[in-house]
Amino acid sequence: MLAVISDIHSNTEALKAVLNDIATRNVKEIICLGDVVGYGPEPLECVELVSKRSAVTLMGNHDLAVMFEPTKFNIAAETSCFWTRHRIEEEKDIERRNACWQFLGNLPVKHTVDGNDYEMGELVFVHGSPRRPVNEYIFPDDVYSNPARVKGAFERFDTVCFVGHTHVPGVFFDTPDFYTPDELEGVLEIDPLKKVLINVGSVGQPRDRDPRAGYVLVEPRRIRFIRVEYDFNSVAEKVYAIAELDDYLGSRLKEGR
Ligand SMILES: [Fe+2]
Repeated sequence: MLAVISDIHSNTEALKAVLNDIATRNVKEIICLGDVVGYGPEPLECVELVSKRSAVTLMGNHDLAVMFEPTKFNIAAETSCFWTRHRIEEEKDIERRNACWQFLGNLPVKHTVDGNDYEMGELVFVHGSPRRPVNEYIFPDDVYSNPARVKGAFERFDTVCFVGHTHVPGVFFDTPDFYTPDELEGVLEIDPLKKVLINVGSVGQPRDRDPRAGYVLVEPRRIRFIRVEYDFNSVAEKVYAIAELDDYLGSRLKEGR
């Protein structure tokens, strides 16, 4: 089994809950689709946990922003980005600081896995979209408001593609159409003749009105959406205690939005 996690956003509690859940299952490898940092209170801890536990981690737009520069960020996101950079930079343990920059600076933007073990074609992994791996959003509404964007994404992979970035889990078909995990009762049976684009949701800042941490398991011919309870109140308190992090970044965790 493969576990695919994404959008941790410096939320250690959510990450630990997901890693503990993964440890109870027969998971061979973890793939992380990026945004390890940004928004949340504990960037170094999350970088360390992810670098230890995941086999592959991809570059998210927030990881890129902390390393280089934020583009098209709202004010709360931009301020959290600069705080994250400052937090890493002021780390007194030089080895710890350097390891964090090394990790963030070397993240690839795309990963592929031969899907034979899972009775599927090639599996493609990116943060945003197969067309623009780091920055393009594919929202459920795009099925209606921007179908060309969804179709454009489907032209750039052959069978199964995993994304994060919007923090909204679910499955896109090339019709185009979108199904929430609830509509699928948490499970997608893979039809090898149909392309699918799967959003794995977010570990550390879900935005589908379910505050539980989310991730995905890949089994032979099957994708399973998993949710895990964690103590979002204590994370919110950590956010409130840091002046540079907008209080909203804490309170939104309680509602999953
Ligand atoms: Fe994100």
